[in-house]
This record gives sequence, structure tokens and C-alpha cells, in this order.
Amino acid sequence: PFEIELARSGTVLTVPAHSSVLDVVTAAGAGVLSSCRQGVCGTCEITVLAGEPEHRDSVLDDAERAAGTRMFACVSRARSDRLVVDL
Ligand code: FES
Repeated sequence: PFEIELARSGTVLTVPAHSSVLDVVTAAGAGVLSSCRQGVCGTCEITVLAGEPEHRDSVLDDAERAAGTRMFACVSRARSDRLVVDL
């Protein structure tokens, strides 16, 4: 599990092993659009302000992965204990 902080509200949520970031932030009322839910379409992109994402999508190239400023909430997770996102 890891934490995700919604920067606009300061809300901190826990993402359990069996849930996606998309599921957790959507349940908390943050509006994130989604489509494929498999990391291929790019619809669920969110901006990462702090922390290190663990990219599991098929959208970003190597440079974008290394930059760590964007992630796809349906599949990607975190390497750090907490991600701060622009939601
Ligand atoms: Fe398609 Fe996340 S919903 S990449």
C-alpha cells in the first residue's frame, strides 16, 4: 500500500494492494476520466507533483517515465510511500 495526497484539498488516501489509484481517487470524489482501464488509452492521466510513480502503462516513453511528472491512474502505482497529485 501507499498514500496518495490530493494537492487541491490536502486529502490523503491509502491505495491498498488490490485497488488502483483510479478507484481510490474516484471513490473520494476526485473526477478522473477513464476508458480502457488497462494503461493503453491515456485517458486517466494525472499530474504528479511529488513522489515517484511506478509506471505500468503502455503510453509513456522512457524519458517521460524518468521525468515522473505524469502517470496513468488506472494501472500505475508508487515506488515512494506517498504520491502528491494535482487533483
Ligand atoms: Fe486508459 Fe487509464 S483508462 S490508460
